[in-house]
Amino acid sequence: MHISIHSSLTVLATLVSLVSAQGCAEAQRFGILQWSPLTLSPGQTFTVTVNLTCAIEWFGIVPTYLDYHIEVPVGNNGHEPPIYIARRTYNQSASPPVDRFIATLPYFSWFTFPEAQYQLVLDNSYMVAGTNGSPVMVVGDISQPINITASPTAVDIHPTAA
Ligand SMILES: *[C@@H]1O[C@H](CO)[C@@H](O)[C@H](O)[C@H]1NC(C)=O
Ligand SMILES: *[C@@H]1O[C@H](CO)[C@@H](O)[C@H](O)[C@H]1NC(C)=O
Ligand SMILES: *[C@@H]1O[C@H](CO)[C@@H](O)[C@H](O)[C@H]1NC(C)=O
Repeated sequence: MHISIHSSLTVLATLVSLVSAQGCAEAQRFGILQWSPLTLSPGQTFTVTVNLTCAIEWFGIVPTYLDYHIEVPVGNNGHEPPIYIARRTYNQSASPPVDRFIATLPYFSWFTFPEAQYQLVLDNSYMVAGTNGSPVMVVGDISQPINITASPTAVDIHPTAA
């Protein structure tokens, strides 16, 4: 009896460690988004890296397009558009499954708002089967806070609201 309970617990512990070693968090289903350097200012280049191991191998989400933009969800004056960073066609043969590229943060007027907070957003567009079997492209997105320091020399050229 003692041995049997012990064996069951050992099997259970082994299963738990296997699942946690191989499992992926739900938050990783569209990719793990990172960039360097962490803090940016207008005109600066930065490297964006998206790790798609969990997305592809665990969740079966193979991107067709990866679109990147920056939003200002807090501290804007109500009409700042998202700023396009990049549209990437994902290389589905990439090994390891990563999308990596160099981007440049544009000079844009609202990067001078000292109270603003920003988010780097990734839209992951991928194919699923539609109800009649034909493919449908759906979009999942992730966003992360990104630090942007105002350019000290920037001129506010923000257009007057129409
Ligand atoms: C990608 O993420 C997986 C799961 O978190 C991790 O095991 C792997 O080392 C990462 N790959 C790279 C290239 O960072
Ligand atoms: C896609 O990835 C494969 C494997 O790394 C590589 O051989 C190929 O050149 C890549 N294609 C493009 C268009 O970058
Ligand atoms: C932004 O910068 C602050 C201060 O340097 C730091 O504590 C924080 O972790 C940074 N946040 C991000 C998302 O990089």
